[in-house]
Amino acid sequence: MFQHLIVYLFAVSQLVSLTGAEDECPLQLNPQRVVVRYGGSVEVNCNTSVANKGMGWEASEGGMPMTKNQSLITWRVSELTEWDIKPVCYINPNKGAQCQVKLPVTVYKTPDSVSISTVNHTEPMKEGQQYELQCDVHDVAPVQYLTVKWYKGKTLMNETTFTDTDKTPDNKTVTLLIRPDRADDGAQYRCEAELDLGAEGPQPPPTYSSEPLNVEVYYKPQHSSSTETIIKDDKVMLDCTVKANPAPDYTWSSDHLKEKISSSVIKSSALSPGKYTCTTSNSLGRDSKVFILKSTGTRHTFWTVLFFFHLLVTLIGVI
Ligand SMILES: *[C@@H]1O[C@H](CO)[C@@H](O)[C@H](O)[C@H]1NC(C)=O
Ligand SMILES: *[C@@H]1O[C@H](CO)[C@@H](O)[C@H](O)[C@H]1NC(C)=O
Ligand SMILES: *[C@@H]1O[C@H](CO)[C@@H](O)[C@H](O)[C@H]1NC(C)=O
Ligand SMILES: *[C@@H]1O[C@H](CO)[C@@H](O)[C@H](O)[C@H]1NC(C)=O
Ligand SMILES: *[C@@H]1O[C@H](CO)[C@@H](O)[C@H](O)[C@H]1NC(C)=O
Repeated sequence: MFQHLIVYLFAVSQLVSLTGAEDECPLQLNPQRVVVRYGGSVEVNCNTSVANKGMGWEASEGGMPMTKNQSLITWRVSELTEWDIKPVCYINPNKGAQCQVKLPVTVYKTPDSVSISTVNHTEPMKEGQQYELQCDVHDVAPVQYLTVKWYKGKTLMNETTFTDTDKTPDNKTVTLLIRPDRADDGAQYRCEAELDLGAEGPQPPPTYSSEPLNVEVYYKPQHSSSTETIIKDDKVMLDCTVKANPAPDYTWSSDHLKEKISSSVIKSSALSPGKYTCTTSNSLGRDSKVFILKSTGTRHTFWTVLFFFHLLVTLIGVI
């Protein structure tokens, strides 16, 4: 019983492989797949080595009526203007039934335009807030092979592909959410549409970029340290300069300052030791930094040493 089953399965598998071989149509397409620009020209050969009652091409454009006893027949279109064309080469062999081979055709169109914009926003952006950028790709086909890439400068931020199987041109809108920080002030964003049509398609894949979008980011001043100790020298410099956008204002406060100072740096030889507080502000916020000015101790030590040395020499002289 079991042995019978094995013999039976063996026979079935033989049968399957036999019919598999018989199913193969004795036609060869060259090339086997084509990628054509809409309106472009295309030429594909279909050949056979078997004697036949006729072979031909069936297609909505460039079809070839059945011709007898041929070994090569060419499908040729000088201006292809059908998006969803499905050419088929067929043969009526002398032995066996009619069979056919389908030619996969990809008709493409590069986008008319690729543009970038910010969604509902025109003012400079504010640090830490979320914004939406939009990329519009117009009139491209087939979107199945389209990739939209986002770049900040030279850095790839994100990319999107599409699963639609529509063959006719379409418009695509892609968005990118961003939360810019101070380092992004002046950054350039752009989006790029790439049609990667495979090995049979144009190489390198056609790529279309939007104009760059220059991003201005507003951010408040932020000092890297909140206090700094400075030893008093001949000329003292208290530098409170810090980056911020819009450009910040500076105010100084100290018991030792008589007049108002609004510059970012105080350069003076006449500052008394003590505490000087600088406050930097713009429309987004403020930040303070305290400078502690200390009188120099080293010079005292020097004079002290000299005094004792002098005393020692005098004492030695006395002895
Ligand atoms: C088609 O032609 C090529 C070369 O011209 C040949 O190598 C190939 O065997 C042919 N195919 C068939 C099915 O006759
Ligand atoms: C078909 O072609 C072969 C060889 O090319 C030739 O011997 C034969 O006579 C042809 N048959 C017909 C019906 O044209
Ligand atoms: C943009 O603003 C308009 C009107 O103010 C509003 O109707 C729309 O929903 C906004 N779109 C987004 C994406 O926020
Ligand atoms: C794509 O956009 C253009 C212009 O806005 C419009 O004329 C066209 O109908 C749109 N195409 C599709 C498929 O929506
Ligand atoms: C990046 O793209 C993916 C898929 O297109 C999307 O789901 C995701 O939200 C995008 N990321 C950002 C930051 O926009």
